[in-house]
Amino acid sequence: MSVDPSPSGTETSATSSPTALRILRDAAEGRLPDWAVAGKSRRRHMERVAGLLDEWADARQLGAEERVRWRAAGFLHDVLREATPSDLRPRVPVQLRALSGPLLHGPAAAERLRDEGVGDEAFLRAIAFHTIGHPDFDALGQALYCADYLEPGRRDPEGWKAKRRARFPKRPDFVTFEVLRARIRTILEAERRLPDATVAFWNQRVGKDAKGGGRRPEPPGTGPSTEVTREPGEERE
Ligand SMILES: [Fe+2]
Ligand SMILES: [Fe+2]
Repeated sequence: MSVDPSPSGTETSATSSPTALRILRDAAEGRLPDWAVAGKSRRRHMERVAGLLDEWADARQLGAEERVRWRAAGFLHDVLREATPSDLRPRVPVQLRALSGPLLHGPAAAERLRDEGVGDEAFLRAIAFHTIGHPDFDALGQALYCADYLEPGRRDPEGWKAKRRARFPKRPDFVTFEVLRARIRTILEAERRLPDATVAFWNQRVGKDAKGGGRRPEPPGTGPSTEVTREPGEERE
């Protein structure tokens, strides 16, 4: 898949309102909007995701505005994670209302940010689909999808995630493929429903991104058997 190689970030400033730009810049520095519903432990997770995205953005030599965009996504992706599903469900687009409760916080956060004036569609897609994946992710969408799973606070007894964190800047497509495969495997093992967007993401990537890295088996007891989207201390998504 070809993702935007290194977007300039001008889409955010060109398409977002002044209020939205302030929300994004504040978020990039760790200040969440007052409508955030996230406790201390969650905020620490968001900070780790933002930190990892910042590292990757730096390794890819992205410009200052794009780094703000990446860090803001790290802090904002779970901004409504602790709101109740019954509050979130009416706020998400109709076609996503059938998602299970723990999967609603991404689409709900994206809709709220859109209401606040964020017009950067790729940014909104990254937030909305950070848990389930999407075939139209740009480079940030792909990075957030991986960073949420690989951040250093996640359980990682055999170092599977640490290796992918280090590898991501040079091989983002392959690491994304591995993370997607691990997440899908966990969903299958739990006999849970695969969201349509996850299936579309897989179908788009399979057979392309495995090249060069090979289809190495997962080390025992790692990746796939760990939480797919669970944050430390939270119920399974
Ligand atoms: Fe999340
Ligand atoms: Fe998260």
